[in-house]
Amino acid sequence: MINLKFVDPLITRLEKENLKKAINSGWLSAGPYVNKLEKKLSNIMDVKFGITVNNGTNAIFLILMSLNLKRGDEVIVPSFCYISPIHMIKIMGLKPVPVDIKLDNLQIDTDQISKKINKKTKAILLIHNYGSICNLQKIKKIAHKKKLFIIEDTSEVILSKQNKYFVGDCRGYNKDRYISYASFHASKTIITGEGGMIMTNSKKISSNLKILRNHGQKSNRPYFYHMMGGNFRLSNLLASIGYSQLLRLKEIRKKKIEINFFYEKNLVKNENFSLMTDPLNFSPVRWGFPILFKKLNDRNNIMKILNKNSTVCRPGFYSLNKLKHLNIYENKISSKSDFKNAEIATNNVLVLPMHNKLKKNELKFICSKINSYFHN
Ligand SMILES: Cc1ncc(COP(=O)(O)O)c(C=O)c1O
Repeated sequence: MINLKFVDPLITRLEKENLKKAINSGWLSAGPYVNKLEKKLSNIMDVKFGITVNNGTNAIFLILMSLNLKRGDEVIVPSFCYISPIHMIKIMGLKPVPVDIKLDNLQIDTDQISKKINKKTKAILLIHNYGSICNLQKIKKIAHKKKLFIIEDTSEVILSKQNKYFVGDCRGYNKDRYISYASFHASKTIITGEGGMIMTNSKKISSNLKILRNHGQKSNRPYFYHMMGGNFRLSNLLASIGYSQLLRLKEIRKKKIEINFFYEKNLVKNENFSLMTDPLNFSPVRWGFPILFKKLNDRNNIMKILNKNSTVCRPGFYSLNKLKHLNIYENKISSKSDFKNAEIATNNVLVLPMHNKLKKNELKFICSKINSYFHN
């Protein structure tokens, strides 16, 4: 029987050997693998500075802390995305201002951003949903005019390339106003279990983040604190796993690209669903493979068929206006129309697994279940 899971991290002998070395070294909290991981990933990405953190949620929390924003300042976000960046914006006393998504790629609709910008807007938070990509060029132009920060969440797209550049490399915009980050959660492309990394080309931002990450302490003066901070540090044990994954980077990318290609080729296209439309110059390394169905019923039936024995696939996110605790209409900047496409995505998106343990017969199984649903 096929025993498929949506999350199934591939940890090889290399990761286990390096983890053992980390344990035996006695460096369990800070340690050399943390520095190695930061250096290696920033070199690969061609970004000047990499700052590891203990998860992706804390990456955005730390970034927001570092920007000196005031209570009530506004941050543009997509109205359909993973929740944690939105929670961190709210916890910081800032206001998330949702902008609807486009249905052809489930990314923020750049044409609707400008009308949401006012004097209180301080940043645009880009979240590349499911490994497709926002229109970065347009967003940079909009942000430049208003001198906004760009924060780029690459958790679901890391290791993807646009032209020959890795997404999240912070190029093409004022370096003191551009920060990217990624989660290394067990479901992601680079895995440490819990973990993440912030990337920037700005020495100023990087130094600030390193101090904040460590209780507000500069590394050369023990027990002297310069500012309010916290413990956002990644452990050396987990960094050893992430570093090992980077040594297997080519293999990880290749496999993910192959899985994406397999789905695109083997899902028989018909009018009942659509796949993502990516720009031609983009080669995706996706976190999950989204399908947008025309009808909620089809999405739910297929989810039931695939998830009979275990969780093979997942539904899409909830449109932010559907999560009542966010109280998204309170700021009066948002209205129903900001969630039109996001609500369609909530009802009609299904996400297929993309992890590196997937075998060909398992991919065939998934595609055949979907194909036969529509063709029998
Ligand atoms: C886009 C995005 N941002 C942030 C996060 C949060 O990362 P973490 O789970 O490491 O806190 C996730 C998922 O895990 C995510 O998919």
